[in-house]
Amino acid sequence: MEKVTKAVIPAAGFGTRFFPITKAMPKEMVPVVDKPVIQYVVEEAVASGCDDILIITGRNKRAIEDHFDVSAELNMHLQNSGNTELLEASERLSDLANIHYIRQKEQRGLGDAVLCAKQHVGDEPFAVLLGDTICLPDTGEKPCTAQLADMLVKYQQPVIGVEVVPEHKIKDYGIIDGKLIEDRVYQIMDIIEKPSPEEAPSNIGAMGRYVLTSEIFEILEHTAPGRKGEIQLTDALAKYTDYLGVIAKSTRYDIGDIDTWIVSNLKLLMMDERYKNLVLQALEK
Ligand code: G1P
Repeated sequence: MEKVTKAVIPAAGFGTRFFPITKAMPKEMVPVVDKPVIQYVVEEAVASGCDDILIITGRNKRAIEDHFDVSAELNMHLQNSGNTELLEASERLSDLANIHYIRQKEQRGLGDAVLCAKQHVGDEPFAVLLGDTICLPDTGEKPCTAQLADMLVKYQQPVIGVEVVPEHKIKDYGIIDGKLIEDRVYQIMDIIEKPSPEEAPSNIGAMGRYVLTSEIFEILEHTAPGRKGEIQLTDALAKYTDYLGVIAKSTRYDIGDIDTWIVSNLKLLMMDERYKNLVLQALEK
């Protein structure tokens, strides 16, 4: 297992936690500072060396395809009005990567969404990036997915990105039982989807980035519905023989619901030199 060039981005959920924003718009298109959340995710995959991206969509997700597609009408308008700066930005966006789409016909869970990628992925190792998480690498570090892919190459084992989870959030994560084998690297013995704090084997949880091997597809095909009656990726991961949890050198911004989206937006706005002063000035008034 050498290079990871394929990425799968599950984006089929209804986005009920964002209602009414998501009544007519996919939750992956919710803006964070000045671009939709899914653009950050695709950019991370590309910056991590994945030039083949498969987005698992569902009904009402056309806007995602349009976002990454060429808009001939818009480009023509920008060209005619001499707006070369925006024209270049529009062309950069549609040239970002080779993006493919598959529809998950029924919402049967994250595991089922990943299983939709089986044929496209084939036998190669591949990355999975959840569409409701933005990861920004620490200064001077590679993107989070690239850090995990390096660990797959080093240990020849699948890798789950993990982070320390506050106690009240344990119930929202896949939580690992692992043994530290190197700074930031755990050999995982077990992983449990959304346990109560009492049942949880640790406070270290999956944070939405994975680099997996194609064996996961066969495991998923034999994984029964778990929590919420859905096929859980976590239940399939638990059946891997040897796999790692890695705390990447990056910061995660959760866009999973309205509260975390607002907080993440504020944090990212305050880190952005273009907008920071605007926000501070507005608050002073
Ligand atoms: C999913 C996974 C969970 C993981 C989490 C990270 O849950 O099932 O194991 O810890 O993403 O965000 P979701 O947030 O989609 O409910």
